[in-house]
Amino acid sequence: MERLFRTPTKTRECMAVDQVQLEAALSAIIEPELGLPLGQIGLLREVTSRRRRVRIEVALPVAAWPGSDELADEIHRVAGSVPGVEEIEFDLTVMTDEERAALRVILRTEMLGAASPDAAAEGGHDGHGHAHGGDGAAAAFLLPDSTTRVIGVSSGKGGVGKSTVTVNLAIALAESGHSVGLLDADVYGFSAPKMLGTDHDPIILGDVVIPTSAHGVKCLSMGYFVPDDQPVIWRGPMLHKAIQQFLTDAYWGRPDFVLVDMPPGTGDVALTLAQVMPKAEIIVVTTPQPAAQRVAQRSAFAARRLKLSVRGVVENMSWFTGDDGRRYELFGAGGGQTLAADLGVPLLGQVPLVNAVRLGGDEGRPIVAVDPESDTALVFTDIASKLASLGPARVYRKELSLREG
Ligand SMILES: Nc1ncnc2c1ncn2[C@@H]1O[C@H](COP(=O)(O)OP(=O)(O)O)[C@@H](O)[C@H]1O
Ligand SMILES: [Mg+2]
Repeated sequence: MERLFRTPTKTRECMAVDQVQLEAALSAIIEPELGLPLGQIGLLREVTSRRRRVRIEVALPVAAWPGSDELADEIHRVAGSVPGVEEIEFDLTVMTDEERAALRVILRTEMLGAASPDAAAEGGHDGHGHAHGGDGAAAAFLLPDSTTRVIGVSSGKGGVGKSTVTVNLAIALAESGHSVGLLDADVYGFSAPKMLGTDHDPIILGDVVIPTSAHGVKCLSMGYFVPDDQPVIWRGPMLHKAIQQFLTDAYWGRPDFVLVDMPPGTGDVALTLAQVMPKAEIIVVTTPQPAAQRVAQRSAFAARRLKLSVRGVVENMSWFTGDDGRRYELFGAGGGQTLAADLGVPLLGQVPLVNAVRLGGDEGRPIVAVDPESDTALVFTDIASKLASLGPARVYRKELSLREG
């Protein structure tokens, strides 16, 4: 009965902070880089309250943790919205080696989709014996029951806009609400970091690599690991190992899509992808002229020989619209349509030749991110939605088929 005589203000003044409620609220905040709740990954080192004053200490995995300002803001916002909280003392610090090791085990467990953290812990600080694809364990998103669609973007030759298409499609998929990773497997001609405009390097926690991200797309590229201007010379097995590590030692989370910027042509990387990611799908980028289309066709046939499912064709540099408003077909016409018909797959879209696309690539300001309403960005958005609505490829296995011998 007494309550009736209290004003709401009075109630608030008298209320101490509910410690359990405070901890629950903070623990549930999702850390954006890792996509996991703070409580699970051990970032909250201290949460205490005395009457209406709370003390929060957050330990970041490394000092240069991306997005730490935004994370601090979010923690303040959430703590401030807990009833009774009037003062927040906030400390941002860096994890100890032990805390980092514990986080590494948590991430490894997530990556493997393993039931027990022990399995991940056994993966070893020594760098031996941990789960590479070849050792029988695969990243969770590569397992047969994973819903992640891995889509290799391929072309017959370089310079047709494969990376441009990969980067803009990845962003378009992310903007339509999907979680997206971009693996730059073009180990000789890597360009994704620059094109996507990532502003930090991947973070390495022991044997776990945390991809960078920009425009909602997580990214890994050889470009982050080799010094500028240094030629990269890979032999087949090293290449295989590098790609495999990007997939099995990287914390990608459980993305809806992983787009793979493939090297041009039909080399070792396609073979590795086919081995490591048997469910991978392929889209082929070509320019409109018949010669380019024939080269692209070879790469599509090679993909099929590896049992990768070719899902569609993207024609790039289809036309240039002059100041007079007319379309000029600088590289000929019809290549994309012909290739799609030959392969029996849809032509997913035609991307015009636009200066803003090149500039965006050079400056790390992809057109889909910086000018999403432009005609060209809408072409990418449309391709992304067609790709999404195609659904995952059905994997045909000869031994499971009744009709095929
Ligand atoms: N539709 C387009 N309009 C204008 N420039 C483009 C277009 N597509 C690609 N480019 C430019 O052409 C060059 C080659 O494209 P890129 O994506 O790097 O090709 P690839 O990965 O196939 O080698 C880059 O400078 C890129 O910015
Ligand atoms: Mg490229």
